[in-house]
Amino acid sequence: MNPAYTPAPATPDLLSQSTPLVSESKMFLKTKTTAVQNGMKQAVSNCQIKVLLLENINSTALKIFQGEGYQVEHLTKALSEEELIEKIKDVHIIGLRSKTKITEKVLNAAENILAIGCFCIGTNQVNLEVAAKKSIAVFNSPFSNSRSVAELVLAEIIFLSRQLGDRNNEMHKGVWNKVSKNCYEVRGKKLGIVGYGHIGSQLSVLAEALGMQVYFYDVLQLMPLGSAKPVATLQELLSIVDVVTFHVPETPDTKEMVGEKEIRALRPGSYLINASRGTVVQIAPLAKALRDGHLGGAAIDVYPSEPARNGEGFESELIGCPNTILSPHIGGSTEEAQSMIGIEVGNAITKFMSQGSTLGAVNFPQIELRPSNDPSSVRILFAHNNVPGVLKSINNVLSDYNVERQTSESKGDLAYLVADVLIRPGENDANSILSHLYHTISALPHGISTRLIQ
Ligand SMILES: NC(=O)c1ccc[n+]([C@@H]2O[C@H](COP(=O)([O-])OP(=O)(O)OC[C@H]3O[C@@H](n4cnc5c(N)ncnc54)[C@H](O)[C@@H]3O)[C@@H](O)[C@H]2O)c1
Repeated sequence: MNPAYTPAPATPDLLSQSTPLVSESKMFLKTKTTAVQNGMKQAVSNCQIKVLLLENINSTALKIFQGEGYQVEHLTKALSEEELIEKIKDVHIIGLRSKTKITEKVLNAAENILAIGCFCIGTNQVNLEVAAKKSIAVFNSPFSNSRSVAELVLAEIIFLSRQLGDRNNEMHKGVWNKVSKNCYEVRGKKLGIVGYGHIGSQLSVLAEALGMQVYFYDVLQLMPLGSAKPVATLQELLSIVDVVTFHVPETPDTKEMVGEKEIRALRPGSYLINASRGTVVQIAPLAKALRDGHLGGAAIDVYPSEPARNGEGFESELIGCPNTILSPHIGGSTEEAQSMIGIEVGNAITKFMSQGSTLGAVNFPQIELRPSNDPSSVRILFAHNNVPGVLKSINNVLSDYNVERQTSESKGDLAYLVADVLIRPGENDANSILSHLYHTISALPHGISTRLIQ
């Protein structure tokens, strides 16, 4: 189709005349070409995309970005706000872990930024609201370390059953204490899993392989794996198991969900494990039950308050409790998990850059897209305020073109429209058509950012 088209005058603040949106030579090449309104005012090829990776992000991510042809700067440390403001100016993608804080001030300085990769579980370190207002997609990796947590918990079940923590402490003090009283095999014992999600369900399979009988409680009705049995209430689960382990998220319902009543509902001599969130299990009644012998042991990886950095400074009523394994929130901390996180976040960001796909973004409407196979197709990515009338105005613009695919989603105040438009070279120069499309859409009311990808 040869679209009816009148060239729009290039608006200098959006697109400089001397730097066309897509040069003719690139137009029908497979090169991915991106243009955005906010800051990146000219066409860029992959080799012009700048990535700043902080906090020693795994090399799997580095390889993914380099494989796309991006320019990558890889730093091992975190940066202060002032350093970030200086560094982030011309960066299109920033990758960080938990130490770097992306504040509103930093985001205001980030003129070209399109995506933020949190190469970790949490995203508290990023001002997600301001990022969404600027249509900056923030990605994380909530489930890459599920296996690591499940394996640690499996080890802890065996360690608790054999009092291995206490024997290890004694040996390091030069004390030989060979005992078998109250030491058990895990085979045939009952394991209760609270929260049968990514970690809980994985643990279920591993524990059954050791010969344990698995019971689980979840607020959702979930398909049991293997021979695991769902139970209707937490109280019922607590009353039947030898070991209970918590794998729930932090929500108002799970906050302090385990207190005196729940701990005393466990059978005498049973074990409690928490590697989920520190607020789930109340520490004082747990310490009491360990000291008075109601519980046979506990393994705790997460705490209501945790030291901000490595070194001395950990305090807890659990220190010195019998058969109590304390670990410093390392459930998900393995090389494999870091590598998986690098792959997951790296791939999500490159798909966002090259296809506009936002699957996995925590602050963005979720749209999963396949690349268009037609070399003359251009993908329009339009982020806008979620208000009535915007779709009507963009469809007025697109109605002159052959639209192959169009989809839109919203999340809170942010809406995201993706359209694949066929631009066949004809009388009109393809660059001018793209330029016209870009400027017309960019100028629509309530728009936040416009990107064209080819
Ligand atoms: N220790 C670590 O290093 C580490 C690492 C990764 C994850 N985690 C934590 O582990 C927890 C579980 O992670 P996941 O990836 O399995 O999460 P998930 O979202 O896959 O599963 C959580 C499950 O808990 C269920 N649930 C929610 N509220 C519940 C309630 N009140 N009672 C019973 N079930 C409830 C949900 O329905 C879901 O099935 C999270 O809190 C996560 O932050 C800790």
